Amino acid sequence: MDFMPKRFYIQTVGCQMNVLDSELVAGDLLRAGYELVDSVRRADTILLNTCSVRQHAEDKIYSVLGRLKDLKERRPGMIIGVLGCMAQKDQHQIFKRAPHVDLVVGPGQLGQLPMLLEQVAAGGGPRIEVSLDRTAGSRQSVEQSFARFEPNRAARTRPAPHQAMVRIMFGCDKFCTYCIVPRVRGPEQSRPAVEIVDEVRRLAGDGCLEVTLLGQTVNSYQDAAEGQTVRLWDLLGKLHDIEGIRRLKFVTNYPKHVTTDLLEAVRDLPKVSPYLHIPAQSGANAVLQRMKRGYTVESYREMLGRIREMIPHAAITSDFIVGFCGETEDDFQQTVDLVRDARFKNSFIFKYSARPGTKAAERYADDVPESVKRRRNNELLDVQNAICLEDSQPFLGRTVEILVEGPSKVSRKQSADVQKVQLVGRTVCDRIVVFDGPHELTGRILPVLIEKVDAFTLFGRQQ
Ligand code: SAH
Ligand code: SF4
Ligand code: F3S
Repeated sequence: MDFMPKRFYIQTVGCQMNVLDSELVAGDLLRAGYELVDSVRRADTILLNTCSVRQHAEDKIYSVLGRLKDLKERRPGMIIGVLGCMAQKDQHQIFKRAPHVDLVVGPGQLGQLPMLLEQVAAGGGPRIEVSLDRTAGSRQSVEQSFARFEPNRAARTRPAPHQAMVRIMFGCDKFCTYCIVPRVRGPEQSRPAVEIVDEVRRLAGDGCLEVTLLGQTVNSYQDAAEGQTVRLWDLLGKLHDIEGIRRLKFVTNYPKHVTTDLLEAVRDLPKVSPYLHIPAQSGANAVLQRMKRGYTVESYREMLGRIREMIPHAAITSDFIVGFCGETEDDFQQTVDLVRDARFKNSFIFKYSARPGTKAAERYADDVPESVKRRRNNELLDVQNAICLEDSQPFLGRTVEILVEGPSKVSRKQSADVQKVQLVGRTVCDRIVVFDGPHELTGRILPVLIEKVDAFTLFGRQQ
């Protein structure tokens, strides 16, 4: 009997780019006649969309693959596919470490997935499709090998129906020395503005209220297709005019490209959230230099000053790496100082993880012991958390406007016929608000009175 796997399960790790890719892959497969299921048990095709940014992310996937081995032995017709950044980075090694894998597909080849699955199901496996290494050819040929993946969107595969992510650029050209992303995601390529405007128009027509523009260095967006160059701030202006769209966000900003033009757009366009994610990575110049970030802590602080002056209510968030090669205690204390002074709305803090294939892994010894990395991570987290808690206090007794995203994790476990459930929403500044209300409020923008706060959540009552 022909065994034709048709039910797929997709597990995603990594950043928002991956979340978006998984959504697009799922939409593509639904159109190809597959059915999306929510557990490995019910699936005959299992797809893992992977991340290589830190060792931990890779370990997690290899351990999932380890667990899938028995299952595959019991059900030989099952197809296991490894997609995304780790597929691009490890390539054939994945088959060596996990011989039960049928399919390895890099982020620049996802459009081929329906066809590849068919070939594997027809007995043509294992298959691998990845893009060229960054040094394997001319810029143009490498760019082309990272094929754009922009299938039509299917509303039902979006994590939340009223919100959507829209990619405005692919890849990265910054080559920060610690980072694997430029290798696995390929050269920086901006999408034509006309296509982005079209896509957002369609999303608005579909009931989408909030759009988050995605790019590794989103504020270096540049489209010169129509004779004049469209930069991020111009694009925001164009999207602002689209009826139905209520909120616009964009991530991630590269500090050096936070220009006055961009800040003016954020200040002057009411639909653009006054929320800026601008990773600093470190507060010490020696470290920033070894990271090849291209700015000094003084210029980063100057930029923060400019933002506070132009948009006093802006929420600014950052990423930090602790324990980067050669980071001294004094370097680290300068990072603590930066976090204290900047009063970020939040900081995402990571312990340095050496990535084979990056400049840092080649040039510098990973010489900060794990125990020191852990201590610095906790110390910085404590400083940031205290700021988060302090900055939540002024919201007590205030009314904030939120976009209701849907039931919270807690209430998703309750039965569907409960009248009032715990709902989650976000303010324009990306603060999480929890309150009780009926399911039907999902997708509404409404005022909520804040009655209780903790470091990361505001608890309120519908006004
Ligand atoms: N393009 C974005 C995000 C890249 S990855 C940016 O430029 O900020 C997200 C975060 O992971 C980075 O901001 C960085 O803080 C962290 N990161 C990247 N490589 C890492 C590594 N090798 N070890 C630890 N953290 C890393
Ligand atoms: Fe990585 Fe730096 Fe590019 Fe961000 S800007 S993706 S940290 S290389
Ligand atoms: Fe990870 Fe790839 Fe994103 S390496 S952080 S999933 S771009």
